[in-house]
Amino acid sequence: MDTASETNEKRDLYTVIDDDNIAWLHFDKQGTGTNVLSAAILEAFYEELLELVERAPRGLVILSDKRNGFIAGADVREFTQLANHDEAVSAIQRGQAVFDRLAALPFPSVALIHGFCLGGGLEMALACRYRVARDDPGTRLGLPEVRLGIHPGFGGSVRLTPLVGALHAMDLMLSGRSVDGRAAKRMGIVDHAVPERHLKSAARALILDPPFPHRPSKLQALSNHAWVRPVLARVFRHQVSKKARKDHYPAPYALIDLWQQHADNERDMMHAEAESVANLITGPTAQNLIRVFLLQEQLKALGRGTDFKPKCIHVVGAGIMGGDIAAWCALRGMQVTLSDQSPERIAPAIKRAHTLFKRRLKRPRPIQEAMDRLMPDHKGLGVEQADVVIEAIFEDAEVKRSLYRELEPRMRKGAILATNTSSIPLAELRDVLDDPACLVGIHFFNPVAKMQLVEIVRDDETDSEVVAKAIAFTRKIDRLPLPVTSTPGFLVNRVLMPYLLEAVELENEGIPPAEIDRQALEFGMPMGPIELADTVGLDICLHVAENLGKHLNTPVPQRLRDLVNQGRLGRKSGAGFYQYKKGKAVKPALPKGYHPHADISDRMILRMLNEVVACLREKVIEEADHLDAGMVYGTGFAPFRGGPLYYIEAMGADTLLQRLRNLEQKLGDRFKPDPGWEYVAGFTDEKETHGNG
Ligand code: NAI
Repeated sequence: MDTASETNEKRDLYTVIDDDNIAWLHFDKQGTGTNVLSAAILEAFYEELLELVERAPRGLVILSDKRNGFIAGADVREFTQLANHDEAVSAIQRGQAVFDRLAALPFPSVALIHGFCLGGGLEMALACRYRVARDDPGTRLGLPEVRLGIHPGFGGSVRLTPLVGALHAMDLMLSGRSVDGRAAKRMGIVDHAVPERHLKSAARALILDPPFPHRPSKLQALSNHAWVRPVLARVFRHQVSKKARKDHYPAPYALIDLWQQHADNERDMMHAEAESVANLITGPTAQNLIRVFLLQEQLKALGRGTDFKPKCIHVVGAGIMGGDIAAWCALRGMQVTLSDQSPERIAPAIKRAHTLFKRRLKRPRPIQEAMDRLMPDHKGLGVEQADVVIEAIFEDAEVKRSLYRELEPRMRKGAILATNTSSIPLAELRDVLDDPACLVGIHFFNPVAKMQLVEIVRDDETDSEVVAKAIAFTRKIDRLPLPVTSTPGFLVNRVLMPYLLEAVELENEGIPPAEIDRQALEFGMPMGPIELADTVGLDICLHVAENLGKHLNTPVPQRLRDLVNQGRLGRKSGAGFYQYKKGKAVKPALPKGYHPHADISDRMILRMLNEVVACLREKVIEEADHLDAGMVYGTGFAPFRGGPLYYIEAMGADTLLQRLRNLEQKLGDRFKPDPGWEYVAGFTDEKETHGNG
């Protein structure tokens, strides 16, 4: 067994020495399409470096054999296995020691970067003397650790700040964003950004005729000076505070402290970096964010079970949703045809697509290529070639049914028919089809380009292969599939609605909307419910509420109807609950001496949780974990809390149930606990008993 794992380990990376005595060290983690740095691979890399020192090549080039990139980061799964702070410190220090060894090699080293070069991958590259990156938009360099509730720990924060100055370095680390090869070159992170065909020769040239390593400009160097740091640190803290609260997301603040206190002493900073990451990684925020990340991986993995490889997509209905779905599919490389009742109705969608392509692709050629992939097709000729036909026409069952009658005979064998309906059960739509089992829901959210989650809607009659194909398609266009059953509101809208309606009730009782929103933000929602309702549009909220209200016995507040009748539809009409100036909500200041009522947050959040529990009981979703992921990605449910079910577990189901009962007594039936709470409470108790035993 030892021998087997050793052989495996060896193949995860290997070195070839060429005629110029240059060592080419290839990363090629076995059994996966992506290189990640597990503790075992780091050890194997360390061994390889020791052997290379013995061999004394002229230089070292580190590269990846994977098509998708260099190294995507550390193995996040291992982050959940650290038992305590000390174990975390020693794991991090081991990683630092490996990269220190790389940085101290007596010969030049080059990281040859294509595709993903993130987190630990970029930290490794930073420990090399030089870096060369491919100059396409698909090459992404970044340190996204803050998104997992930590910051770089393998020397990344220590090496990046002196290399490019604090402004670029902190911007990357605090935002977690990634940049392409050219932007990395402009910042000074890489020495060269070149086309694929020149990558190896650029690396070779750096080894054969090594220049001085990159140095920051005077101004960049000054940004790390002891006198400047306190001032800049204040600016960074201010910027971060606009995006994330310290009590919810401590990592960016810890990074700023680390840099401010230690940036002039590399050794001290290394030590403090390890301590700081160990503190963060064993804390609740990081553990919950890591959990959410792993749940996301679970949803991504759902697409792996089929060899369905859709290339041609036909979208019917070029309105808000259909137009944007078509544009998104074309952006992700699909051949798309888009039909509607007339060419005039398609034109605005094509215009919006162009704006999206410009924003995302930036350069004329890829923009033109994406435009070429998106064909206006008002006669609907594309149906015959399509692997996936997506219907996104008016929300009217009869209109949809008559369209399906026309579409089905023209569709290819093996193609799937998907509806974007947000409320009509599949059962009401499919009986016009010869093959009723081939209809599936692929429910995108608005705005399509921003909302990663897509609900995959099925019922007992839906062919499971069709569901698998719908999931595979969703992954192909880089969205997150969430399988749900065809029940009213599916998961996301159903759970959001009681939360939004309770916010409307509160507003109607005279609680200032700004206070309602503030409390939701304090809980960790990305946007307050009042502003969210205004943003979605109060007419749309009313429509969904009336629709769902019938099924779920949720009363629709008169206040919502009144606002819609007055033409106050939210942001799009310039006024809703708030007034809007240049698209921004004007939130009146709270009255002096205002003391908010204690129940505000509970009323909103508990109604949402009650619906979550109902969905679990009704098996709207099969896996409890999927529900947490769906809520985080579909509703923005406070990611640092790890999802609603995880939150219930952390708070104690019994405690929350009691609070819900109290509210029921005070405010009536809409707080009536769902019977599912008994199960959830029992489930949590059981876990606790096992844990203690
Ligand atoms: P929309 O009213 O903006 O667009 C519908 C388009 O379909 C119109 O351009 C119309 O001309 C076209 N159309 C109607 N009948 C047609 C037919 N027989 N053949 C070809 N084209 C036809 O509607 P929207 O908002 O894009 O909604 C479309 C679907 O997506 C609905 O089922 C809706 O429930 C669902 N949905 C809407 C969301 C939203 O936020 N608007 C979110 C998620 C789903």
